[in-house]
Amino acid sequence: MRYESAGAASAVRARHDGAKRNPFSENECGRYYARSMASWGLLNAWGGFTYSAPDGRMTFTDRPGRYFWANGRAFGTATVANGRVSVEVVEGTLPAGMTFATASGRAHASSKPQRNGEVWHDTAGHVINAHGGCVMEHGGRYWLYGEHKIYGTQGNVAPVGVPCYSSDNLADWRDEGVALAVSGDPKSDIADGCVLERPKVVYCANTGKFVMYFHLERPGRGYSDGRVGIAVADRPAGPFVFLRSTRTTPGTYPVNANADEMGDDALARSQKEWEVACGRTGEGERALIYPAHVAGGQDSRDMTLYVDDDGRGWLVHSSERNSTLHFDELTDDYMGFTGRWWRFAEKDWTEAPALCKKDGRYFLVGSDCTGWAPNEARYYRARSLTGPWERVGNPCRGVNPANGLGPEKTWGGQSNYILKTREGRYIAMFDIWNPENQVDSRLVWLPVQFKGGEITIEWQDRCEAVP
Ligand code: DGJ
Repeated sequence: MRYESAGAASAVRARHDGAKRNPFSENECGRYYARSMASWGLLNAWGGFTYSAPDGRMTFTDRPGRYFWANGRAFGTATVANGRVSVEVVEGTLPAGMTFATASGRAHASSKPQRNGEVWHDTAGHVINAHGGCVMEHGGRYWLYGEHKIYGTQGNVAPVGVPCYSSDNLADWRDEGVALAVSGDPKSDIADGCVLERPKVVYCANTGKFVMYFHLERPGRGYSDGRVGIAVADRPAGPFVFLRSTRTTPGTYPVNANADEMGDDALARSQKEWEVACGRTGEGERALIYPAHVAGGQDSRDMTLYVDDDGRGWLVHSSERNSTLHFDELTDDYMGFTGRWWRFAEKDWTEAPALCKKDGRYFLVGSDCTGWAPNEARYYRARSLTGPWERVGNPCRGVNPANGLGPEKTWGGQSNYILKTREGRYIAMFDIWNPENQVDSRLVWLPVQFKGGEITIEWQDRCEAVP
């Protein structure tokens, strides 16, 4: 086929060479005839070249050789050998963080473990674009959801939505398309440009539907909105229909409220103090935040969903300006709140909660609160979801050789989710964020080890995916 195409291209050029079509020049002839059939586009096609600016990605054929490429910003050559590609820019510049792959990269992705902290590919050879998400098991397959990121600092808002991938072995991920798309309607809460983070999906046995929650900041509000978005679908890959966004548990006090947090005096104090609550020291550290938000609902940012053994669904999220964790009991259809909720880890500033249960104990892994910058993880444990929760320590061990970072910085990453596989293994998922170029954020999946009521998570280069 390639050779037939090349033959057709040279026949066209030979026929329309400018001389045979006098008075047209070679250039003019080319504009109308030859260029459309024997153009630069053919040169790119010869090298199997594709370019995605939003994803910051260039891909090439897996045929060994040296190929021309041009993408509108730059041009150069790509040398393909042993399934790897090296790219040379002859003129122009490529944005930092651009990733390159080959078709043999696609073969690599198949049935071979992904490597922690490296770029992961799906079964079509494209970079897996699912960050801060989760994996759900349903119908004999695993379903991976996450934040779709684009190139550069624009990657911190959502122009696409929540992509979905599926796999039967946790290693080979098939692109299932966009499960929840952001809206083109600027009035929608999930309009293009909103902040849509940490999507989590669970199956609701009571309704037979799939329910997605995510942290939402409506467009143009920075991180001041602090809402959860709720969407629902009939199939794991969607399409998910956006139901609404909301602050959590409006009109209710926590079940474990202290008496001095309720009543008019507490409300007046809280209305005065919550505004200083950003600070982690002095007044901010002591500020009473949540009573001021009982009427309208509590703020919610980093979050996870958890379905307990009894089928009860829970939203666990950082609230009170990220200073305190809230555990919100969900209604039977998981699409709202029962109004029963608990506060834990008060003023512990825990973000990125990831939850699992083993041998009658719940474990919650989280991070400190330092924006996109990595910090030291911590975990809590409890015999009941509704507490008491005890802070234990940092479960992380070992060093990420790529950046030299160890447990003091969670290997450069941040906790995200804990999956219990159908074989009963536990996989802790982390994100190594790159706020300057979020499409190049990396995934890290590691086994959780349980011993004597304690957990450890040890760095390993190989992703904990293939059984
Ligand atoms: C830390 C959170 O864990 C992330 O999900 C994100 O919200 C960043 N903060 C934003 O700074």
